[in-house]
Parts: sequence; structure tokens; C-alpha cells
Amino acid sequence: MTKKRTARRRSGKDPARDKHFARIFSEFRGEEGDLIPILQKTQERFGFIPREAVRRIARFLKISENQIYGVASFYSQFRFTAPGRNSIKVCLGTACHVRGGQILCDAVERELDLKPGGTTEDRRYDLERVACLGCCALAPVVQVNADIHSRMTVIRLKETLDKYE
Ligand code: FES
Repeated sequence: MTKKRTARRRSGKDPARDKHFARIFSEFRGEEGDLIPILQKTQERFGFIPREAVRRIARFLKISENQIYGVASFYSQFRFTAPGRNSIKVCLGTACHVRGGQILCDAVERELDLKPGGTTEDRRYDLERVACLGCCALAPVVQVNADIHSRMTVIRLKETLDKYE
């Protein structure tokens, strides 16, 4: 991080960030119903919902930060930690679930010491549970970045994940 950027962070002033939020907020009227679309735009912009964003959104919508966390954590699409270099999606849709999707998800959690919605400390992986990846005939499916790994097994899982740096 550059000295300038560090100084801006410390002072709490970051004109570039201010501009991003101003642009997002300019599309809304500041009503409570704007919360979900604002969160979606924020995540599109930053890849996750930073703490600072929650503070700013709370101020803009005149609601508490707890309300925002409460609503956002209900939807699996929102994440509060920066994504890792590799995104793992374990499918828990019906076809994958009946063929062991949950067992795979538990195995990823154990192997990487990672909870869904989180990122490993070294930022190598993040993990998400998804409802259906659209290739049910290949169940159970695990997606890493753009790669679909079909008929996944716990035994093949570690070897597959190790391929992603
Ligand atoms: S249920 Fe997993 S791909 Fe459809």
C-alpha cells in the first residue's frame, strides 16, 4: 500500500472511495427498500461488503448497522470478507445434495479450516454454498473459479484444490 493511501486510510478520508459510494447512492432515494440493491451494487464494486460500506449505508438509509448485517446475512449472496484468489462453490441443490454435496462441503471446511462465506487466512481460497450450478446430471458438483468439477468425491477433493495456487 502506498504512503499516500495509508495516510488517507488513517485520516479516514479517501476521495476515491467517497466517489464510489456517491455514485452508488445517487441511484437511490434513501428508502429502506433500497437496502438490497445497494448491497448488491456495493458487492459488485468491491467484491464483498466492507465494514466501511455498512457504516455509510446505515447513515444513508438512516437504519442501524445491525439491521444491515441482519438482512444481509439472510442472503447467501452477500459476503463480508474479501474474496480469496480462488473461489470454491459447493453445490447443495437437490441433485448434488442427495449425492453427497453436504459431505463435500464439510470436507472442504475441515480441509481448509474455512466456513462458508469466509476466506482462508492466506487468502488462497474462499468458500460458498450454492443452490444449483445448472449441471445436475454431473452431481455432485464443486466449482473452483470457472472450472466445474463433476462427480466429485471426498478423496479427489484435496488433490483438486491443491491445483489452485
Ligand atoms: S443441484 Fe447441483 S448442479 Fe444442480
